[in-house]
Amino acid sequence: MISVFGSLVGDEEIANVTACMKSQWMGFGGSVAKFEQRFSEKYAVANFAMVDSGSNALFMAVSLLNLPRGSDIILPSFTWVSCAQAVIMAGHRPLFCDVDPVTMNVRREDVEPLLTPNVRAIMVVHYAGLAVELDALLDLKLPIIEDAAHAVCSTYKGRPCGAIGDVGIYSFDAVKNLTTGEGGGIACRESTWIDRAKVLRYCGIGKSGFEAAVANAKGKSRWWEYNIAEPFIKMLPTNIAAGIGLAQLDRIDQLQIRRAEVWAAYQREFASMPWVRTPVEATTGDTHSYFTYCVRVTKRDELARFLLDNQVYTTLRYHPLHLNGLYGQTNVRLPNCEALNEDALSIPLHPRLSDDEVGKVIELFKMFGKTHAL
Ligand SMILES: Cc1ncc(COP(=O)(O)O)c(C=O)c1O
Repeated sequence: MISVFGSLVGDEEIANVTACMKSQWMGFGGSVAKFEQRFSEKYAVANFAMVDSGSNALFMAVSLLNLPRGSDIILPSFTWVSCAQAVIMAGHRPLFCDVDPVTMNVRREDVEPLLTPNVRAIMVVHYAGLAVELDALLDLKLPIIEDAAHAVCSTYKGRPCGAIGDVGIYSFDAVKNLTTGEGGGIACRESTWIDRAKVLRYCGIGKSGFEAAVANAKGKSRWWEYNIAEPFIKMLPTNIAAGIGLAQLDRIDQLQIRRAEVWAAYQREFASMPWVRTPVEATTGDTHSYFTYCVRVTKRDELARFLLDNQVYTTLRYHPLHLNGLYGQTNVRLPNCEALNEDALSIPLHPRLSDDEVGKVIELFKMFGKTHAL
């Protein structure tokens, strides 16, 4: 079965994991600090901290804003469930908005009808790795949370996605452009916020790791006592994850080249299929991370079934959140999200795909078009 998403790891990742295990310290430690520094430098993200998942980074991001309890936060319905869950778990209310049917990103015009005095932040998602038109949203003068889970390597007007708004997050889960197995990152405009994030991620205590504990003990009696700055959950990353991430940072430029090649092959071949609407390219000057290749097609469900029957797995990212009863907003109408729910499909795009596999996906599209007279 050809998979829709995937990562590529090699000997360097394995060596780093082995070294970490041989050191007998697998938890939070020096490799995390190294990964943080290298990620910051590579992507010009000044204030960056690693955590254990993108989902937890979202909860951290919302919490860092210190909004009054019960604030409304606007976010696209066409996103992953963690975005809404983070808002709710931080004590606020998600207000779902529509997205641009072409870019699949939130625009200012999608947000404006929902603005009230109780709206105190906007969460945007750089869908598939295409940068959101942020300047128009920043002009609204509300705090912006950037979900850059898909957008490591993406830039907007020369700036790194995830580090433009007040606070941004990254995901390093098993299928993201840069994987650490599971993992996430948080970026803040203010350096004091990242200091706070580093305290919060260890139950609001801050100092963690054997080396830090020993250093702390040297100048103290009763060094086992600690100060709890704030109540918070634990979201510490491990040296194992950071070790994988360090090797991925060396590899990622190569992985991005392969992603771009697969993307270009699809763009070229689908251009002659009028029933396939292809995703848009990044605006000149911006960089696309090519996380996922999402087409809009006639007879989407039949196509997905046909591909599955021929050993090609596809999926829809995402089932719009406002259609989910949990959030109590099923009476809200968001026509573009609802249209995407009917005709959008993410097809295989990842760096392990061979030319034969890409060719097979394209051939299957051709066959489907022919047999359905599209
Ligand atoms: C848009 C978006 N935000 C957040 C996340 C959560 O990231 P993680 O899987 O690292 O928790 C994902 C995961 O796929 C995502 O797609």
